[in-house]
Amino acid sequence: MTQTDDRTGTGLALFPTGFRWGVATASYQIEGATREDGRAPSIWDTFARTSGRVHLGQTGDVACDHYHRYPEDVALMRELGVDTYRFSVAWPRIRPDGTGPVNPRGLDFYDRLVDALLASGIEPMATLYHWDLPQSLEDRGGWTVRETAEYFAEYAVAVHDRLGDRIRTWTTLNEPWCSAFLGYATGDQAPGRTEPGAAFRAAHHLLLGHGLAARALRSAGAREVSVTVNLTPVSPRDPLDRHDVAAAGLVDGLHNRIFLDPLLKGRYPADMLEHMARFTSLEHIADGDEEIIGAPIDLLGVNYYAPTFVAARVGTPSSDRFPGTEGVEYPEPGLPVTAMGWPVEADGLRRLLVRLARDYPSTPLMITENGAAYHDSAVDGRVADAERIDYLRSHLLAAHQAIGEGADLRGYLAWSLLDNFEWAYGYDKRFGLIHVDYATQRRTLKDSALWYSGVIGRNGI
Ligand code: NOJ
Repeated sequence: MTQTDDRTGTGLALFPTGFRWGVATASYQIEGATREDGRAPSIWDTFARTSGRVHLGQTGDVACDHYHRYPEDVALMRELGVDTYRFSVAWPRIRPDGTGPVNPRGLDFYDRLVDALLASGIEPMATLYHWDLPQSLEDRGGWTVRETAEYFAEYAVAVHDRLGDRIRTWTTLNEPWCSAFLGYATGDQAPGRTEPGAAFRAAHHLLLGHGLAARALRSAGAREVSVTVNLTPVSPRDPLDRHDVAAAGLVDGLHNRIFLDPLLKGRYPADMLEHMARFTSLEHIADGDEEIIGAPIDLLGVNYYAPTFVAARVGTPSSDRFPGTEGVEYPEPGLPVTAMGWPVEADGLRRLLVRLARDYPSTPLMITENGAAYHDSAVDGRVADAERIDYLRSHLLAAHQAIGEGADLRGYLAWSLLDNFEWAYGYDKRFGLIHVDYATQRRTLKDSALWYSGVIGRNGI
């Protein structure tokens, strides 16, 4: 039960007892050490080395050097008081060529990290796929082929074999929407392909990879299995215009339902099957796949950053490279934006969580990412990031409200612990609670980190 404690007259919004508070990161964005201890290239190494793909040609070769500095980073987490740390395991460290032997030196790193976390009283939550597919598997077709899903399940078990005694919650995928559509349709992310049909096949094989890995992890004794999706509430510009409403339905399908329905209802939505069939035969969806994908999970990870507003497009089709949305446009909502240009609307998070509770009941939820990039700089050992504090505060209050409206929300993980490699944007966009000076690797707690630490200490705002 949530409660609002007004005894102090400050209107403290308290979160439920046992609510988890943490931070999140991902391997390629922070680790560096891309050539150490037997790691092989991933699709992101290749993509970042391809001219014109990443801002200023930057790569994750050094990033935050977390591979070597993890003790310092764990100490910083302890200072913040977080009880949960969501990190990802780099597949190309564990099974470097995707199909051959497991590399124990790759596992050793996560072994050390997990022990350091536990020694600091922080629960490790492992994500198995945060976008760094071994390049050798992309060379065999990547997520567009079924074998990749099968290799993913094998790799998941190899990680569980080493860390399963100390990790309770296993997250299979992070944001399959990005892997499938930005990776294979728009080409904005690795592997940078622009083939709409391939994107839908990739989406299916990512989901199947989740299902096969979940099944294998359970047989191996995993205690909790989850998957993290990036969701956005989609609203029509004019709720009374049936064309705008239809456009919103399509975008909601392509962004949210195409993943949520198979995962939580065990079947693709009919309108999405019809839509996909415009771009690819559906032969890659084998009998029984939906059942594998829809096996019960223990937690749904929700990444929320921004709402989406859509309208039907009149006149020339849009040049949107997203498959089949030529008739859709994205009007400017007139909201403040972050350094990413993403509109800020905390109520979007409330609407999203309440909708999940309604449409997919009995699914425990965790916000596995939420945060914002701003143009921060460290001046005399201080980073005054008032905008990020406002962002976090308003979103936490929205989450608190959603709990009051019935959402079974179990925790909140801020993105991100550190400024890091923001994919195609390189190091230009800073999402961290902790500022990183990349020239010296010096870490500085931003004002938002200190503020968040206070929230954790009070279990409320
Ligand atoms: C979601 C992704 O999971 C993460 O890797 C990325 O840095 C953040 N969004 C911010 O764009």
